[in-house]
Amino acid sequence: MLNIAQRAARAAGNVIARKIDQGGFSVEEKRKDDLVTDVDRECENTISSMLLKSYRDHAILGEEGGLQGNKDSEYVWVIDPIDGTTNFVKGLPHCAVSIGLQHKGRTIVGVVFDPFRDEMFSAARGEGASLNGTRIRVGQHKTIDGAIVGTAFPTRYRERLDAYMELFTRLINQCADVRRSGSASLDLCYAACGRYDAYLEQGLKPWDFTAGELILRESGGIATDFAGGPGFTKSGNIVSGNPQIVQNLLAKVCDAPNLPGILR
Ligand code: IPD
Ligand code: CA
Ligand code: CA
Repeated sequence: MLNIAQRAARAAGNVIARKIDQGGFSVEEKRKDDLVTDVDRECENTISSMLLKSYRDHAILGEEGGLQGNKDSEYVWVIDPIDGTTNFVKGLPHCAVSIGLQHKGRTIVGVVFDPFRDEMFSAARGEGASLNGTRIRVGQHKTIDGAIVGTAFPTRYRERLDAYMELFTRLINQCADVRRSGSASLDLCYAACGRYDAYLEQGLKPWDFTAGELILRESGGIATDFAGGPGFTKSGNIVSGNPQIVQNLLAKVCDAPNLPGILR
C-alpha cells in the first residue's frame, strides 16, 4: 500500500512541477483566502483513480472531492492533492502531495511528496519513517530557547487571531525564530527530520495532517492538541516535535486555560 501511495504521489507531483512553470491554470476562491486550481482537481482525480484501481473497495476522502468510493470501507485514503495551493498559485515552489491511509480510524500509511526537491517522506505504522529511503528521526533539541519553530497564522479563522497573536508573542519571545512555509504536511515532515525543532498550528484539516502526523510519530515525535491531549484529530490544533519540546511548548507557550480562543 505504501508503494501504491508513493506512485500516486509521484504522478500528481509531476503534474504540479510541470504546471507551476507552464502557468495558465484556473484559480478560484473556495472561501475567502482559500484557493483551489484546476491542477488541485486534476491531481486529486489522478491519485483517486490510481488508488481505486488497486483497491476498488476502499474509500477516499479528498480535500476537493470529499468522500468517494465505498463509504462503508474500513480503509479510507485521506488525500491533499496540493498542500500549499497558495504557494503554487504564486509560483513559490514549496508544496506537497499528501496521502494517508487509515484503517478503522488509525493511520497505517503516510506519504508526503515534495516534487520540487524530489523528496519523498514516508512511513508505515510500526516500521519507522524515511526520506527518500533513508531513516529519519526528530531533532533532539529539547528547550524552546534556541529552537526553530514552524507555525502559521490563522488567516482562515480571523476570529482566532487575537488569541493566536498572544501565543505567538510568547513563542517569539522564547524561541530562536519561526518559519511559516505554507504547507502543513511539509511542516510536519520537517519536524520529523529535525529541520524544525517543533511545529504548531491551529485549525488544520485531516488531509493536511494525516500522513505527516504518522511520519512524525514514526520518527520518534509526538503531536498533541493545545491542551496536551489527542484532540487534534478533531480540532486540527496541533503541537508537534520531540516529546520534551512539546511539553515545554504546552507549558510555556500554549498554556491552554489562558488562551480559550485557541481551543475552539
Ligand atoms: C494549507 C497549508 C497551510 C496551512 C493551512 C492549510 P492548502 O493547505 O497546509 O500551510 O497553514 O492551514 O489549509 O489549502 O494549501 O491545501
Ligand atoms: Ca492542505
Ligand atoms: Ca490542498
